[in-house]
This record gives sequence, C-alpha cells and structure tokens, in this order.
Amino acid sequence: MVTATVPAQQVKIGPTQLLINNEWVESVSGRRFETINPATGETICTVAEADAPDVEKAVQAARAAFKGGEWPKMSATKRGELLYKLADLIEQNIDELARLETLDNGKPVHDSLGDLGLVIACYRYYAGWADKVQGKTIPINGPYFCYTRHEPVGVVGQIIPWNFPLLMQAWKLAPALATGNTVVMKTAEQTPLSALRVGELIIEAGFPPGVVNILSGYGPTAGAAISRHMDVDKVAFTGSTEVGHLIMEAAAKSNLKRVTLELGGKSPNIVFADADMDLAIEGVHQALFFNQGQCCCAGSRLFVEEKCYDEFVAKAVARAKRRTVGNPFDANTEQGPQVDKEQFDKVMGYIESGMREGAQMLCGGTQVGDRGFFIAPTVFADVRDDMKIAQEEIFGPVMSIIKFKDIDEVIQRANNTMYGLAAAVWTQDISKAHAIANNVRAGTVWVNCYDVFDAAAPFGGFKQSGIGRELGEYGLQQYTEIKTVTIKL
Ligand code: NAI
Ligand code: MG
Repeated sequence: MVTATVPAQQVKIGPTQLLINNEWVESVSGRRFETINPATGETICTVAEADAPDVEKAVQAARAAFKGGEWPKMSATKRGELLYKLADLIEQNIDELARLETLDNGKPVHDSLGDLGLVIACYRYYAGWADKVQGKTIPINGPYFCYTRHEPVGVVGQIIPWNFPLLMQAWKLAPALATGNTVVMKTAEQTPLSALRVGELIIEAGFPPGVVNILSGYGPTAGAAISRHMDVDKVAFTGSTEVGHLIMEAAAKSNLKRVTLELGGKSPNIVFADADMDLAIEGVHQALFFNQGQCCCAGSRLFVEEKCYDEFVAKAVARAKRRTVGNPFDANTEQGPQVDKEQFDKVMGYIESGMREGAQMLCGGTQVGDRGFFIAPTVFADVRDDMKIAQEEIFGPVMSIIKFKDIDEVIQRANNTMYGLAAAVWTQDISKAHAIANNVRAGTVWVNCYDVFDAAAPFGGFKQSGIGRELGEYGLQQYTEIKTVTIKL
C-alpha cells in the first residue's frame, strides 16, 4: 500500500541555519541535527541546533529590536502592511511550502495545502487588526483624564509543536507582530524546515532585523532556555500538558513571564441516535483520523447513544477500512505516516493497552508497509471510561467508541477528564445541542461539525488543556499589556 514517496531532492529545502537578527547563522556550538522524512525514515538534511547561547543571542536581538531601530517607531498600519506582504509571499510560494511541510511532517500534501489556506488567512486577519488595537477613555472620579494604552508585552518566546508546523507558526507570530512585540520562536525538532523557509519570506517582506528570530532545536535545551530566560517577557507554548507544566514552573522560578499554553486534549465527540447518520459517520471519522490523529482537539472519546450503537460502530469501521494510507505526495492519500518513531511507538503502545484492557479491536492495529511510520486506521469498540485509551492522549489513528444511554449521563462522563479543549455533538434536536454546548467544560464545542477553524474564532482550553486563547480578538489580548494613564486636569 505504501509506495515510494517524492525523494527529498525533488523538494526545495530552503535555509537550514538559525535566523537571528535577519541573518542566517550556524549555532554557537556548531552542532547540527538531522530531520527525517517520516514516510521513509530517511534523513532529509541537517539543521543548525540551537542551545542556550543561541537563545541568548536571539533574545538580545529581539530586545534590541523592541527598544530601538525601526520597529517601535513603525506605525501600526505599516506593521499591518508587512503582515499582508508576508501573507502574499506565502501565497506565491504555496506549492513549494506545502511540499516542504509534507516532506518533513508526513501529512498528505492536500492537507498541507489546507493548512496553508488557514496560515494565509491568519496573517491577513491579524494584519487587519494591527491598527485597530486601541484603549479606552475611562470616566474616573475627580478632575482627571484617564485612558488606557494597549502596549506590546515585549520580547515573546514562542515554542511550537510538529503537528501543524506552519499553522502553529502563524497562530503565534501573527498576533504577536500585529501588536508590536518581537519574537524568539523555537520550532519542533521533528519539523524545522517549513518555518525556516517562512523566515526567508519574513526578511523579504521587510520586517526589521531582530523582530522575528527562528531557532531549530530541542525542548530541554533551547526550549527550556527560552522559558527560564530573565529577559523574555512572555512564553506562548503549544504542545504536551507535561511540558506545559514545566513552562509554567520555569516562568514562576524566573521572572514571572506571562504564559499562554495550548495543551493536550481528550475531546468528547457525542453522537445521538437522532443525528444525520451519514454526516455523523464522516464527521467523527475526520474528527479522529485527520492529520494522522495528531490533533490536540481530536475527537478521541467517541460517545455513541445505545439506540444506534451497533449500526454506528459497523459504519464507523467500514469507513475506517476505506481510509487510504500511503504516499503523502499522492493526491488520493488520506493518511500519511506518524511524525516519527517515538510517536509511532507511543501509538502502538496504546493499541496494545486497548487490547490488554479488553476493548474490542475491529480493524487496524498494525503497521502499514515496512518502512516509515504508517499505522493502519484502528477502531476499538466497547471502550470503558477507565481504560487508558479512553483517558490518555493517544495522538494517533486510533478511534475509541464508548456507549452511553442518556444525556445527563453523557455530560457527566464527558466532563470526567483533566482536559477541556474541545467537544462536539451530533444531533438534530436543538435542545440536546444546547445542553451539550452549555454543560461540557471545553474551550470549543462544535455542533454537527468538527475542526471548523477560523482566524476570527478563539481557540484554547479549559482545565489542563491550557491557559489563554489564540486566534480572534481574544488572541490579541494575550500579546498586550494594559497601561492606565491618569492626568490631572
Ligand atoms: P512536547 O510538548 O515535548 O513538544 C512540543 C514543543 O515543546 C517542541 O517544540 C519541544 O521541543 C518543546 N519542548 C519539549 N520539552 C520542553 C521543555 N522542557 N521546555 C521547553 N520546551 C520544550 O511534545 P512531544 O514530545 O513532541 O509529543 C508528546 C505528546 O504531546 C504527543 O504524543 C501528544 O500527546 C502531545 N502533543 C500535543 C500537541 C498539541 O497540539 N497540543 C502537539 C504536540 C504534542
Ligand atoms: Mg517531548
């Protein structure tokens, strides 16, 4: 089933050094690390490996750019124009970027193109906000004139994951730049290449030196150096809940830098018997399997009402069996490889644990092909709430179907988790839809749809799924400090 993928030589690789102060440089240590093609397991190339000394250089460049030079003097409108320019440049290079993303991450190339549509929309959305971020005049008591200014937070550290490299870069950079911050971004060690190519476009768009610095490197070294740095004013992080705790701890122990976190999830996806069945079958399929199951908001606890359970399970399995797995450069491929060996092993471990704990595996469960990190779409039925596969984030193509009887019960069970990122409900009954939307504790609730993202709609988690919101007007607030100015009249 897995055919040869496009060889690395046929995809334009772009820069592999660190971007500091608008210059491409090797790391202070001179070290480089390999990034691999997950469809073949082969090395694509090496990239410069940042560690604490490189973070130091990047923070100094970002601080200098924040304090002096063109950036702090630049009008908000001009900042917006630079973001529009960047969006245009990404659009002009969309095919090249999509292929690079697919080579490094393994996602099907049409999914990379889908991500890029959202990337471009995100930069444009925040470009439009740049000159619309404004304070208030406040009628305080006494002979005073009181107003607020929304000022940039300062030097922002941004640590992003590998599941949506270009999109996570956009979600982080666009609001930070629209509001006048400067950035030190660390990309995920699995997927450094596409962000570096965007770095080239950032220079071409005309952003001044030091405004955006991009470092490839590992979490415990470069990532930790950012989160404990005394001159970084904020860290925005997307990744595992485990590392989210570390970031907050580092912030607490250093300079109380502001922290926003977008972490894991175990999102309930609830199907009532009155749902439009065809819509629901396809919807829950995509909700779980999209992006090889590597989504923080994957609908990974699939609750199905008892009345339609057997029929639903049969159809969900039939759909999973039809899912095409293979060469991510092939237009018909729905599912590529997991991002690396570590993730592959983690997912296979969860499949074993599901079988051990007595869930019914109805399809999948095996590797596909003999190279790369492909896993057959896997469906477990008769999953109980206390099983590991119903509690922990699998982050792979493994669907867990759980039976429920009535709405009060399913709400209570849906909320019985440390996570609160997303939820969905499939029903034609508006009262049920509202009951789920109001009572499930999650940052996003989708009704009769899933994974509907828009640059204007906020996204983020309740509970241990995170702190703060990204996207939309709410996302802007995380990148400004409020200053109150009071003047005696
Ligand atoms: P991770 O949380 O370790 O990695 C995410 C980012 O954090 C990467 O850039 C990494 O280099 C950085 N990082 C790691 N340790 C750090 C540290 N001590 N200080 C600062 N930065 C650090 O996630 P990983 O190991 O790639 O995946 C493990 C699991 O995390 C996945 O199986 C999945 O369950 C979850 N995950 C969730 C994501 C989401 O979108 N919310 C994205 C990626 C992973
Ligand atoms: Mg990790």
